[in-house]
Order: sequence, then C-alpha cells, then structure tokens
Amino acid sequence: SRGLPLSGKRVLITAGPTHEAIDPVRFLGNRSSGTMGFELAKRAANLGADVVLVSGPTNLNIDHGEINLIKVTTAQEMYDACHQHYNKTDVAICAAAVADYRPKHVAKEKMKKKEGDLQIELERNPDILLSLGEKKTNQFLVGFALETENELENAKGKLQRKNLDAIVLNSLKDDGAGFGGNTNKITFIDKNLDIKTFDLKTKSDVASDIWEEITSRIHA
Ligand code: C5P
Repeated sequence: SRGLPLSGKRVLITAGPTHEAIDPVRFLGNRSSGTMGFELAKRAANLGADVVLVSGPTNLNIDHGEINLIKVTTAQEMYDACHQHYNKTDVAICAAAVADYRPKHVAKEKMKKKEGDLQIELERNPDILLSLGEKKTNQFLVGFALETENELENAKGKLQRKNLDAIVLNSLKDDGAGFGGNTNKITFIDKNLDIKTFDLKTKSDVASDIWEEITSRIHA
C-alpha cells in the first residue's frame, strides 16, 4: 500500500448507535445503521490506511485485512476503545450516534410491569468526540453534526467547542440525508470555516468526498 494517499496513516472511526441497558433484556438506542462509518472505514483502507473501526451494534460486518473492527455496545465501551487507540491515531472521525444519556441504575433482573407509569432516571454519557478534542496533539479530528435548525451556526459552534479540524454537517431537511438510508447530503466545514456543500450521493461516494477533503488538508 505504499504511495497511496493514506499509506502509513492510522485512522480511528466510530460508527453505529450505542445501546444503553435498562435491564438484562431492554435498552435505550437509536436508528443509526452504521453505514456512513463503515463506508468511511472501507475507503480509508482502500486509500492505504491502517483502520480501527469502533462500532456499536449494527447488522454490518467487514472482512478487510487493514480494518480492525472493535464491536462495542455502550457509549462507555466506545469511549474506552477510542482512548486506547487515540495516541497512535493520525486521523479520527466520529460518525457514531452515541446515546447522550444512559439509565442511572441497570436492573439486575428483568423489570416486572407494575400498576401506573414508570420513570427511568438517566445520567449523562461521556461525549467521546469532545474528550478526543481535549486530548488532541497531532491528530486530525473530524466530527459529524445532524442538525434540524440553524444548521451552519450549530455545526460551526460544535467544531470550535469540540476543538475539531473539520465537521461534516448533514441536514435532516434534505431528502435522503441522515439516518438509515443509503444516501447522504453533506456540507464539509473545516476549522478555517471553509465550507463546501456536496450533492446527494450514495454513502460510499460521500465517504470518498470526505476523505478527499481530509487528505488534501493533512498533506497541505
Ligand atoms: O453534540 P452532538 O452530539 O450533536 O455532536 C455530534 C458529534 O459528536 C458526532 O461526531 C458524534 O459522533 C459525536 N459524539 C460523541 N459522543 C457523544 C455524543 C456525540 O462522540 N456522547
């Protein structure tokens, strides 16, 4: 893989949802399919990188010699796996839809239904991307933002607050963008607030575009 744009580079990617246990049979989760993160990992490997892909529960699998797929369940496990590899990482992309909250107490036995309503107390999960931004030395760090209002302003705010080198904005206002589907429509924003908007494309083609933006910046 010598001579490829990412030869010798180590890439860390998060993908998919996280599942936060309520009891042995129930969890809090979301509808992230993991597709965008897996496509980013495949593209990075094809560009010559050594890839660590940390994924929450998905239906996806990957069989590629250059991709180390680490399967996790919870945000805390994803956090731990990321921090284990981060020191040796050149480019990190957080594409996972991490649960912001987890149940404060996990019942040891399956919870029985009772009369009346139920309240489950939630506590905050760590923000993995924020923590990587705080620890950043030479890594090129990229986040995602899925916004429904004031998209550009919110994405720029996130970029600065989380100490990122770039952020990928996908708007729910665009048909075909975001969760579940196989297409996405993105805007790439770097830390100098250079902004580039792309057409609706397959997530595989979106992954190529994102890597083109990143490689042009890490080699510049
Ligand atoms: O702040 P917000 O959740 O909108 O930021 C989204 C970005 O932060 C995504 O890149 C997502 O992967 C990352 N994130 C994270 N850990 C969390 C929450 C979000 O890594 N607990």
